[in-house]
Amino acid sequence: MGTSAARRKRLVVLVSGSGSNLQAIIDACADEQLPAEVVAVVSNKPDVFALQRADAAGVPAVHVGVHPGEERADYDARLADVVAGFDPDLVVLAGWMRILTMSFLGWFPERVVNLHPSLPGDLPGTGAIGTAWEEAVAGTRTQTGVMVHFVPDEGVDDGPVLATAIVPIDVHAGFDAFAALVHRAEHRLLVDTIGDLCSASTSPAPALSEVSA
Ligand code: GRF
Repeated sequence: MGTSAARRKRLVVLVSGSGSNLQAIIDACADEQLPAEVVAVVSNKPDVFALQRADAAGVPAVHVGVHPGEERADYDARLADVVAGFDPDLVVLAGWMRILTMSFLGWFPERVVNLHPSLPGDLPGTGAIGTAWEEAVAGTRTQTGVMVHFVPDEGVDDGPVLATAIVPIDVHAGFDAFAALVHRAEHRLLVDTIGDLCSASTSPAPALSEVSA
């Protein structure tokens, strides 16, 4: 048996909804496509399907709701406490629909990645898939895309880009087919990018001669 297997990277996934991207990550970990494990799923909303997916996979599913009147920075500090308790190598925003401030981000420098269904700088914020579709129907757009980027600060769907994929829009195929294409592209890009990040941060154990004085 070899003894040099790298430790599986610890992923905490933040969600707010259905969790199809979470599922893609869980599946990729299970079939060893990713040298990683999802150690916790955290949602800002109760009763979302993503939390059921976590339960079904045997992953801790945590709801961190906003208290009435709670300041954003206070919520983010509480969220950071919960996430830090799982000791993540990477924090993945997969359908997380809430802006994070430095009260959270400051605890995880270069460890928070976000998925967004548009190309960099094109359609930030909510509704990117619908807007791209409407513009295509109006004849002003023929494609959109998806991206994964680091989240260094409070910029919305902005930050150092890790990977992108283009998604063509066929208005004759209908909106549902287009949306399905976007989501398939997201699942693939997110898993591939997490895989790249896991490998990039896996440095081989130094040879004894390199560490001896
Ligand atoms: C994805 O399109 C993601 O890019 C966007 O919200 C959607 C979440 O989908 N921010 P799911 O919850 O992973 O199914």
